[in-house]
Order: sequence, then structure tokens, then C-alpha cells
Amino acid sequence: MMDYFNSIEPPTNESPYELLLRAALLIPLSHYLLGLCLIFIVFLYNFLEIHFLQDFFTGFKGQPVTLTFNSSSKLYHDVVSKCRVLHGRYLSTPWLCSPHLQTVFVHYFGNPPVVNYTRQLFTTSDGGTIALDWVINAEDKQTAIQGNDAMQHNDRCPIIIIVPGLTSASDSAYVKHLAFKMAERGCNVAVSNHRGLGGVSVTSDRFYTAAWTDDIRSVIEHIHCQYPEAPLFAVGTSVGANILVKYLGEDGHNVPIIGAAAICSPWDSLICDRFFRRRLLQRCYNKVLTSGLKDYANLHKDVLSRISNWEGVQEARSCRDFDDVATRVLANCETVDTYYRQCSSANYVGGVMVPLLCISSLDDPICTSEAIPWDECRLNKNVVLATTQHGGHLPFFEGLTAKSVWWVRAVDEFFTALKSSPLSHQRKEVQMPVLSSANPQETSIDKAAFLNVTKDGNSCCSSRTP
Ligand SMILES: *[C@@H]1O[C@H](CO)[C@@H](O)[C@H](O)[C@H]1NC(C)=O
Ligand SMILES: *[C@@H]1O[C@H](CO)[C@@H](O)[C@H](O)[C@H]1NC(C)=O
Ligand SMILES: *[C@@H]1O[C@H](CO)[C@@H](O)[C@H](O)[C@H]1NC(C)=O
Repeated sequence: MMDYFNSIEPPTNESPYELLLRAALLIPLSHYLLGLCLIFIVFLYNFLEIHFLQDFFTGFKGQPVTLTFNSSSKLYHDVVSKCRVLHGRYLSTPWLCSPHLQTVFVHYFGNPPVVNYTRQLFTTSDGGTIALDWVINAEDKQTAIQGNDAMQHNDRCPIIIIVPGLTSASDSAYVKHLAFKMAERGCNVAVSNHRGLGGVSVTSDRFYTAAWTDDIRSVIEHIHCQYPEAPLFAVGTSVGANILVKYLGEDGHNVPIIGAAAICSPWDSLICDRFFRRRLLQRCYNKVLTSGLKDYANLHKDVLSRISNWEGVQEARSCRDFDDVATRVLANCETVDTYYRQCSSANYVGGVMVPLLCISSLDDPICTSEAIPWDECRLNKNVVLATTQHGGHLPFFEGLTAKSVWWVRAVDEFFTALKSSPLSHQRKEVQMPVLSSANPQETSIDKAAFLNVTKDGNSCCSSRTP
């Protein structure tokens, strides 16, 4: 026993640490570099939440979509149960197997299909301007150019109204993916750009906020007035989804639409705000969104500098800062948290009375899954919530070439099933208030890239005046 211990004692008087150091120096530098590289790759893999290995070991089958609904929901049994996409799996594009790669890709590249729009300027009752961009269908191109006739040819043709996300407009890649698919289906598609976006000026002292549902309400009512026979559907994305769900919850039965979809809604702005300040990556997204908001503010400096704290806007370093100095003021709230509480659409899920499909990804790096109102969705029989494990914030790209967007296929199938179900015929005749506001707009706004559609909105609605 003693012999054994003696035998491993250092032959000289060197300390064990010196020996260790000498041993360490014997290892070639390249091995150290290799080791560092490995550590860095493992770090990056975790930091970017890459799920390539998970996809690999599940044989690139993807993960099943989880559906949340009330067990006695007619919407589920009559419509969603027939949707194969929602009962399938979602597998992301292999080279975009991270929510961050997906989200960055959709923002900067996005593989958008070619979509051409014709623009209709819509004036709200307070004098604001909304750019309604109608998709020109390839086949209907001739007629559309001759004054929007394409839409009137077939009054029963479904109309899809798209509400884009924060600082997005009809030219965003994901909007084009959806618009293209719906137009391909033979629907008329209108993108309802938020005020001051899509290249139009702000013409009143009102700006859009996540709580501001008046604009989408008047756009939907205006389109319903113009095409009373056409089944209306609405799709909101991101902040647009928040606005859409809030509108549906506020108006209950009194909305003229057959069905709606809310994609990657923030649901609860207070939770999203806290989430946004927690991790390094989220703080990066926060910076990018803030600079987008500041660009938007700079475009409309003349109006915004008059009605908000302009110095604060320029110094804003986070969305919360921006909301505190501008959005909160525009929304008439005392504190920014009050604004976040009031605008959160999770509070309105219970009031939704039309079929609503909600789609969210659990790895959404912007609108965190912590904010998803699971219980509220389970309680309301008009709501079906579909969640996927991956997808990021809005991209959901699939296929090797990342040309297809999963949620676009899901929404397409959902609307198709809804159209042919008894649920779509149950819509009660909704008495719409008369809009004195639906005027074509005459301003000096730059419309060079777009066609002017002059349409007497008033005559359509005044014919319904009681
Ligand atoms: C869109 O416009 C471009 C250029 O004007 C044209 O080449 C293309 O065919 C149009 N696409 C559709 C779908 O109308
Ligand atoms: C389904 O909805 C009813 C009321 O509409 C509610 O009482 C019930 O608890 C809901 N089911 C679940 C599982 O939440
Ligand atoms: C659209 O209308 C505005 C004014 O109403 C006019 O200045 C502009 O030239 C028109 N643009 C096109 C493309 O017709």
C-alpha cells in the first residue's frame, strides 16, 4: 500500500501545479483553438435556440401542432377538425432552424412573392388617412386598372382584410405571402395599412396605437358597405392581431365578418414588456423595434413633435421609453403600464363572437408565449388556438427553399373550411352605422408608385341611410 502511494509521488521537488502547467504547454495550440471553437458553437447553438439536432433526431418530421379549444366548441367540431394543416406538424426550413434566424430572415429577406397593389385612400371621421392596398389579381389586371371593377364583377367573392404588424405595411414580406396566397385562391385582398405607414402622411392629430380599434372598425364597415354580399374575413399579424382581437371583443356580435385569424399576437403588452427587458437577445430586438418606431416618428415629425414629448422620442432607447413619451400620450393614458394593461387583447378574448383562429409559436422571441391567454381561449367556444413549438415571430418558413409560410397555409385552409361550413351562414344581418367619413382623399400625398382609385364611398353608404 505504502509503495503504491510512493510510486506516484513526483520524482523531483516540483509542485503538482508546475507539472500541470508543463503538461498543458505540451498540448498543441491548434487543439486549444479547436476546443474554443467547440465551446463557442455550443454557446451559439443555445444562445440562438437552434433546434437542428432536435429536428435531426426526430427524422425531420417536425413537431405536432397543439390545438387549444373548448370541448363543446362548434367551431372546432364543424371547421377546425377538418383542417389537415392544423392537425399536422410544423417543420421549419432546415437552414432556418432557430426562431432568431427565422425572424431576422423574414424581416430582411423574406422571399416575398410578387404582389401588385392598387391603392385606395380612405379618410376617417377625424380627418386621418388610411392607405387601403388592394391586390391586383394577375388575371383581373386589365379590369382592375380600369377602376377597381375587378371587385364589382363578383360581389360575392370573399374579401380578406389584412392588418399588418408594428411599422409593417403592405410591402412587408409576410404580408405579401398571405396576400398572394389569398389572391391566388380567388379572394379580393385588401391590406389596411396603419396611419402614416405605406408612404402616406398623417393628416390628423391621431396616430395608431395597439389599443386603437376605430380605424379597423371603420375600414371593415366601409368595405362591408361597398360589398354587402361579399363574405368578409380578417387577418391580423403581431400588433395588428392585437388590434383585430380587441376590435372583435369590443364589438361582439356586431361585426360584419365571417371569420378571423390572429397571428403571433402580443396578447398582453405588460408581460411582453417585462420579457423584452430580461435577456440580451430580447434587448437587441427591443433596439431594432425602437429604431423602427423612431423612423416612423421622424417621418411624421411635424405632427408628432406638436402632440408628444419630441425630445423624449429622440432619446428613446427602448420600446417602453418610446411608449412612455409618445404612445401613452396619444392613447390618453396616465402611465405606460396603464396603456399596456388597457391595450392588451387578452382582456377581450372572452367577447369574441365570430370564429377566430389564433396562431402563436412557443419560441416567438418578440411576443412571448408567456402572454398567451390559454384559459380565455378554452372558455370561448368561438376561439381555437393553435400553437407550434417553433416558428419565430411571424416567419414559420418551411421547405428547403423557404418559399412557403406555414401559417399562411393554415389560415387559407381554415377560411376555406369555414366558408363551406354552416357556421358561416349563421351570421346575423348586422346593422352598420352610416359612415360619413368614407371619402376618397385629395391631398398632396405622394402616390406616384400607386394607382389612384377614385370611388365615391359616400354614395355606397348613404344608400343605406335609414
Ligand atoms: C406586377 O407588376 C409587374 C410590373 O408592372 C408585372 O411584370 C407583373 O406581371 C405583375 N404581377 C401581377 C401578379 O400582376
Ligand atoms: C367550455 O365553455 C363553458 C362555457 O361556455 C365553460 O363552462 C367550460 O368550463 C369550458 N370548458 C373548458 C374546458 O374550459
Ligand atoms: C393621383 O391623384 C393625384 C391627385 O388626386 C394626382 O396628383 C396624381 O397625379 C394621380 N396619380 C396617378 C398615378 O394618376
